[in-house]
Amino acid sequence: MLVNGIEMLKKAKAGHYAVGQFNINNLEWTKAILQVAEELKAPVILGVSEGAGKYMGGFATVQAMVAAMDKEFKISVPVCTHLDHGTYEGAYKCIKAGFTSIMFDGSHYPIDENIWKTKELTHVAHNLGMSIEAEVGAIGGEEDGVIGMGECADPDECKKIADLGVDMLAAGIGNIHGKYPANWKGLSFETLAAVQAKTGEMPLVLHGGSGIPEDMIKKAITLGVSKINVNTECQLSFAAATRKYIEAGKDLEGKGFDPRKLLLPGFEAIKETVREKIKLFGSDGKA
Ligand code: 13P
Repeated sequence: MLVNGIEMLKKAKAGHYAVGQFNINNLEWTKAILQVAEELKAPVILGVSEGAGKYMGGFATVQAMVAAMDKEFKISVPVCTHLDHGTYEGAYKCIKAGFTSIMFDGSHYPIDENIWKTKELTHVAHNLGMSIEAEVGAIGGEEDGVIGMGECADPDECKKIADLGVDMLAAGIGNIHGKYPANWKGLSFETLAAVQAKTGEMPLVLHGGSGIPEDMIKKAITLGVSKINVNTECQLSFAAATRKYIEAGKDLEGKGFDPRKLLLPGFEAIKETVREKIKLFGSDGKA
């Protein structure tokens, strides 16, 4: 059932659990996530980055694929199609394509520019029944070999963006996209608590959910995180399972080269990762 993210996140906030955002990259990813969400009766958010959207043939193609699968597999749990780290232009493309939710990431702009762009997009999204996520304090990660340690957001800036009426807020608390470096200092719970204190009931979003230790995930949820994004861990489990299949020479046996067979171990591996995360986030049985 395609919906925006407003109700599912309000319920998660009130129920002290987090909804998983799992990024999609192709048909296998989408099918795996939808089927596990249905199996576990969990609300779910399908994250689509601008790069992945382009790769899959544009946002309209993605929206059509998700809508058709939702119908074909009789998905009864709430499912949200959500732009991940959208630019201003990308957000408008997703609005046009019929996504149910957008993220506008204006964290790299001066705060005033982030505010006016977020304000405008919030107005447009809400008029169309869509939800919107905003961001303050850039999420770190590896880019061209430079490893950022993850910036901590300014709680006062978070309040300014939250006051615009966005539905969820991504605030940097030392989290990083991709693999965490060995010398990572961990999440800043002090920042998280300060952001939540300033933003009241705002559902907070934890990006870079791959590789964060379970106890930190659980603590983050108790401090107000209602949505957790996972991408890299699904990619790693897909790649490992595919590697195992090929290294065992299975693609050379019979019709093992058939893509439906070749991609099956990876597909099953994504399902298992999503299952583990949904249970860890506590959103199973919450649909
Ligand atoms: P990871 O790839 O680190 O799981 O992060 C995903 C994410 O935050 C998408 O916005």
